[in-house]
Amino acid sequence: MNERPSSSRATEPLHASRHCFAQPRFADESAVLADAYRLLDDAVIRYQGHPVGTMASLDPRAPAENYRDCFVRDFVSAAFLMLLEGRSDVVREFLAMILRMRGQQEELEGQQVAPGVLPASFRVVTLDDGSEQLSADFGDRAIGRVAPVDSMMWWAVLLRAYVRFTGDTAFAHTPEVQRGLRMILSLCLQSRFEVFPTLLVPDGSFMIDRRMGVNGHPLEIQALFDMTLRAADLLTIDEGSHWLIDLARRRRGVLRDYVRRYYWLDLDVLNEVHRFSTEKFGHDVDNVFNIYPESIPEWVADWLPDDGGYFVGNLGPGRIDFRFFSQGNFLATTTGLATAEQGGLLMHTVTERWDDLVGQMPVKLVYPPVRGAEWRLMTGSDPKNVPWSYHNGGNWPVLVWPMVAAALVADRQDLGERAFRVAERRLMADNWPEYYDGRHGRLIGRRANLHQVWSATGLLLARHLLADPGRLVELALTEDEDSAPGNGRGGSAQREQGDD
Ligand code: GLC
Repeated sequence: MNERPSSSRATEPLHASRHCFAQPRFADESAVLADAYRLLDDAVIRYQGHPVGTMASLDPRAPAENYRDCFVRDFVSAAFLMLLEGRSDVVREFLAMILRMRGQQEELEGQQVAPGVLPASFRVVTLDDGSEQLSADFGDRAIGRVAPVDSMMWWAVLLRAYVRFTGDTAFAHTPEVQRGLRMILSLCLQSRFEVFPTLLVPDGSFMIDRRMGVNGHPLEIQALFDMTLRAADLLTIDEGSHWLIDLARRRRGVLRDYVRRYYWLDLDVLNEVHRFSTEKFGHDVDNVFNIYPESIPEWVADWLPDDGGYFVGNLGPGRIDFRFFSQGNFLATTTGLATAEQGGLLMHTVTERWDDLVGQMPVKLVYPPVRGAEWRLMTGSDPKNVPWSYHNGGNWPVLVWPMVAAALVADRQDLGERAFRVAERRLMADNWPEYYDGRHGRLIGRRANLHQVWSATGLLLARHLLADPGRLVELALTEDEDSAPGNGRGGSAQREQGDD
């Protein structure tokens, strides 16, 4: 995989053709990749004639109407692709438009609307007179009324990617973008009742947007929080934002130390937890969260490889969620929230537990599933989230790109290529399912949409990254050299070993 995509940064007129991208995109484009581009092209949402986003799914039988919306989190992989393929104009328009939609959030009786919150999704509505209107959902219509905390974080990540890739700092410095970024950072950095540097969120506030016991301090949100704090470097230094920049930098430093230290699990840590003494008061205690050793699930000791490790899914008073959440682990590795050593150990875990985590489709969203009474209590008896399905142990093709990114940063290109080939073998033939079921992801998800757009864009983005790992730096996904608090250097090769 060494050919470069035939892309350019030149921008063609927005409405030049039905196709969003120049063709062909890869010198030896396979039928699978060509079909992924076809799905992406078909999914483009236009507003006043210009592309501004992509639908989540083109499946006419999708269970909920809002699968035709553009979800902020779903669009991210498409947006990265657009940057890489000369359509940064679309990304810029998307970023600006999402900010403008903030004003649409409904007032809730007795509550102040948080000004930094961004919509989960939006759609373009055509009115009787033929005019178009943007209609956003802030979780007030979404299934289960879940708060999309990750939207503002992905927006900040994408803004940073856009600015790094295009060099268009003027856009970042516009008053609207500066205001938006300040509001997002202020909201994340607000003082709360907490004593942890991590961010406290309700259940279902990110990619897992249902009850799944992911309230509290889920890893994925912490990894995105770290990336969001990094975007403070786009704030212009003036009287008004100096304190915010400083606060973001300091918070990021403690957040990173904390996640590296307390979320990390390997056999040594497990041994410690297994023998923890409890009920200790004071500063100098080992078991700071008062974790009862009896809470360690039986599967952990057998599953954790001798020379491996991973970040646990959640951490709080009396609570470690030992489940393996792929997205958080891979993002942490890509961005350098994980030390180089931790990234290497994580990839070793993926190798040793390949069948569990990748199997027949990269990658398992969460391992292992919850069952029985735990499933009833944790999910509210959700039939979509039965064991080995959907968010509860299903395999999600979109996760191939974070996995490839993490593998590249940890110098395990081989793992990234292997995962890519597994995905490429099935996705087009299966009509681009949203997720897969079963212990090893062999079955198309029982209630999965077909023609799911991020399943296609995830594969295309993974292909770009494998063809040129330098893209990770161009998209500002890896840590910048010398900018990480307490880290010294960024990038896999350069990061110092064991700098924890
Ligand atoms: C499901 C997923 C969510 C995604 C949405 C649209 O609700 O859980 O992560 O954004 O579908 O694809």
